Amino acid sequence: MTAPALLESRGLTVRFGGLLALNALDIDVRHGEVLGLIGPNGSGKTTFLNVISGVYSASAGSIRLDGADITTASAQHLSASGLARTFQRSRLCLPLSVFDNIVLGAQKRLNSGLWHNLIQRKALAAEVRAIAAEARELLYVFNPTLADKLYDPAISLGMIDRRRVEICRALIGKPKLVLLDEPSAGMTHDETDQVVDEILGIRKSLGGLTIIIVEHEMGLIERVTDRCVVLNYGKKICEGKFRDVASDPVVREAYLGQS
Ligand SMILES: Nc1ncnc2c1ncn2[C@@H]1O[C@H](COP(=O)(O)OP(=O)(O)O)[C@@H](O)[C@H]1O
Ligand SMILES: [Mg+2]
Repeated sequence: MTAPALLESRGLTVRFGGLLALNALDIDVRHGEVLGLIGPNGSGKTTFLNVISGVYSASAGSIRLDGADITTASAQHLSASGLARTFQRSRLCLPLSVFDNIVLGAQKRLNSGLWHNLIQRKALAAEVRAIAAEARELLYVFNPTLADKLYDPAISLGMIDRRRVEICRALIGKPKLVLLDEPSAGMTHDETDQVVDEILGIRKSLGGLTIIIVEHEMGLIERVTDRCVVLNYGKKICEGKFRDVASDPVVREAYLGQS
């Protein structure tokens, strides 16, 4: 018997008016794996991440996370259940400090309610200090000089450090599943390789972190994924090890159809 998957979608469908963006998707993400979600432009990759993270709602079908039905769960509930993500377009609040941006990812730890936080101000301050210490540690693993910029505005950072901050924000809540949407966006090949290697290094030290990565840089997908699912027009057309899906004629044809 195989262990149940960490994330399971069954018949997952998303419609935008007449457009079937996701068409009856059955996708399993196993505990501890790095799953590559690939496919031509517009094939539904970001939509899949959006529907499982509660940004879009499913038109039909179901999603389970660690055995619990999360099909209609809110984004807040999902984040508290251990799901975190980064976005294809950067979502940092640039005038705010690195710390302020990262703390947004730790909301569930600070959100004991206004009344509690007003009365238990010592406890709140201690929790904020603990998060700052953890944020500094995480940033240090990515880039030691970044740890010293905890209270600098995010706008003062270069692209690669901004991406690191976004990833730290996803990791600070100690998620089980992290969704990475096109980590290469806005960065060079070398920068992308570097950041992804850093994520994998941190993953090792955290133990058991499961990742879904959407990426068009196939070299990266080949290097870092355990398994891939290929989408085309919202349908799953293939899944398996990268080298097998990459040589599949149906997959090759889907990619040839795009400019
Ligand atoms: N909010 C939306 N409203 C209408 N159509 C959308 C929306 N989001 C995505 N789509 C459409 O759904 C399809 C899949 O898009 P997307 O998931 O962004 O593709 P990918 O990430 O694979 O490039 C595309 O045809 C896109 O135009
Ligand atoms: Mg996309």
